[in-house]
Amino acid sequence: MSKLRILTIGDVVGPCAVDVLSKHLFSLRNTLRADFVIANGENAAPGNGIDIQSAKALLFAGVDVITTGNHIWQKRDIRDFLCTNEQILRPANYPAACPGSGYTVFSVMGYRFLVINVLGTVYMDALENPFSAVDRILQHEAGRYDFVCVDFHAEATSEKRAMGFYLDGRVNIVFGTHTHVPTADLQILPLGTGYITDLGMTGPCDSILGVRSDIIIEKLITKMPVRFELADTPIMLNAAVFTLDTDAKKIIGTEQIITPFDN
Ligand SMILES: [Fe+2]
Ligand SMILES: [Fe+2]
Repeated sequence: MSKLRILTIGDVVGPCAVDVLSKHLFSLRNTLRADFVIANGENAAPGNGIDIQSAKALLFAGVDVITTGNHIWQKRDIRDFLCTNEQILRPANYPAACPGSGYTVFSVMGYRFLVINVLGTVYMDALENPFSAVDRILQHEAGRYDFVCVDFHAEATSEKRAMGFYLDGRVNIVFGTHTHVPTADLQILPLGTGYITDLGMTGPCDSILGVRSDIIIEKLITKMPVRFELADTPIMLNAAVFTLDTDAKKIIGTEQIITPFDN
């Protein structure tokens, strides 16, 4: 039986998280025997979003494909990079006029891996229906891929689980991102798709979604505007590894990783 191991990394939050991945990702790939690494980088740049510098650093660190989310347009310079680099995606259900692509086919050990990035629309912007967007891409790319992985960047747990069951047996992995909090439902769905509602984040421990807790508490108590600052605490890794049986085309193993990095 031949296997592929896919490491999926939750939202990378801030330059410190990028630095820590730069330092540790290559050895982590070895330890985990990861053949393919996908990371959500939508918050990698200072002050949110992703810029060319942080995107390049993540790719250089050993990320194969960067997915993103609703913060993708925050830094202006990323627009050109989205058009010229096939290893970074913006959500596929933004209007076609937006720069970049919502999917890519990446070669992993000779297999063609289709990676799709879509945004949820429950409690988020009104974009193309994400379920139809994934169907459209699968149809358009039919015959051009061996395996599929979907990053569903969404707020509502119900919408995310619905996407998992909707795609069960048609794609190999559906992982959720965006909330920065890992969920405890990493599983193999009935028809062999690996699934988790949210990977969580790769960012500062002892924070509120990456931001200093005192700032968020002040905002919630006073309802006054505040200036967000990332917590200056050790970086933790929230991720999952999926083991794919390439003959059966099914996920046969899952491992969740929630661990502080040795910064
Ligand atoms: Fe995020
Ligand atoms: Fe997000």
